Amino acid sequence: MVVINNLVKKYGKFTAVDNLSLNIEKGQIYGFVGANGAGKTTTMRIISGLLRPTSGEVRVNGVDIIHNPGGYKKHIGYMPDFFGVYDDLKVTEYMNFYSGIYKIENSKRAAITDKLLELVNLSDKKDFYVDALSRGMKQRLCLARSLIHDPQLLILDEPASGLDPKARIEMKQILRTLKDLGKTILISSHILPELSELCTAIGIIERGKMVITGTVEEILNQLSHNKKFKLKVIDKAETARRLLEENPTVSSVQAADNILKFSFSGDEGAAAELLKEMVVQDIPVLSFVEEESNLESIFMHIASGGIENAG
Ligand SMILES: Nc1ncnc2c1ncn2[C@@H]1O[C@H](COP(=O)(O)OP(=O)(O)OP(=O)(O)O)[C@@H](O)[C@H]1O
Ligand SMILES: [Mg+2]
Repeated sequence: MVVINNLVKKYGKFTAVDNLSLNIEKGQIYGFVGANGAGKTTTMRIISGLLRPTSGEVRVNGVDIIHNPGGYKKHIGYMPDFFGVYDDLKVTEYMNFYSGIYKIENSKRAAITDKLLELVNLSDKKDFYVDALSRGMKQRLCLARSLIHDPQLLILDEPASGLDPKARIEMKQILRTLKDLGKTILISSHILPELSELCTAIGIIERGKMVITGTVEEILNQLSHNKKFKLKVIDKAETARRLLEENPTVSSVQAADNILKFSFSGDEGAAAELLKEMVVQDIPVLSFVEEESNLESIFMHIASGGIENAG
């Protein structure tokens, strides 16, 4: 449903989105994860038609949205990462205002508003002033607003940021309901666990580049098969190399002088076993350490919620 190829966005000399490609199938909840400043909002604004890319291709339902910006917008609902101030507007007036923007007929507005406020659990807040709502309620109202024109594709920029655990759970339940209604959803976060149980696919973005995509299981699997080890020996590097190459859990052995680097797919026990084997073979091992890969450190960062959680 969404196909992005080699997307680039530069702000002056700074490249915010760097050759990014991504594919979202109909009915998926696609989690777009990355640390602050990774390029999530920039990418989402481009897909939503609010920002022009420097280069690259974006297709929604087969339509090239960069060169045909008109027709597709009715299919997209965008929820921005901020909520503006709306003095003196009540919840229903706010919905009515946006219904006007989406050119919904007057006679249909009340029914749509009722239905959407029910969906986001705000039916009892109809006559509240928007500014008097809690942050979680405002975010749900913002979501309701992005649904007014019944879009097929929802682009939600950190919809759960700044919410307490209870409000996050509520938001998740609403997103599940939307999935059941057949919506395709692209959702961003800088925290992986927030998305892992909800999303059918994940893409991790780092400094504008997509570093890994797949289901959560596939990503974890790829990471566990991608451990890098470094072995230093005083002598017998060639014997060590042969031993490594014979081991089925070892791949990509690189040797330079007495330092050997390799990929390892076994667990801790298997690593200990491998070291023991070398010692038994009389190889003078100086050190045997796991090196943190760049991907792994990115993953750990977002898996733990990064530096800041507030968003
Ligand atoms: N209008 C702009 N002019 C210049 N640089 C910008 C502009 N908008 C964004 N950037 C830069 O582009 C990079 C990506 O920003 P973006 O907002 O897309 O990241 P993000 O992943 O959404 O981050 P966050 O998690 O903080 O929302 C950042 O380094 C940001 O400073
Ligand atoms: Mg952002």
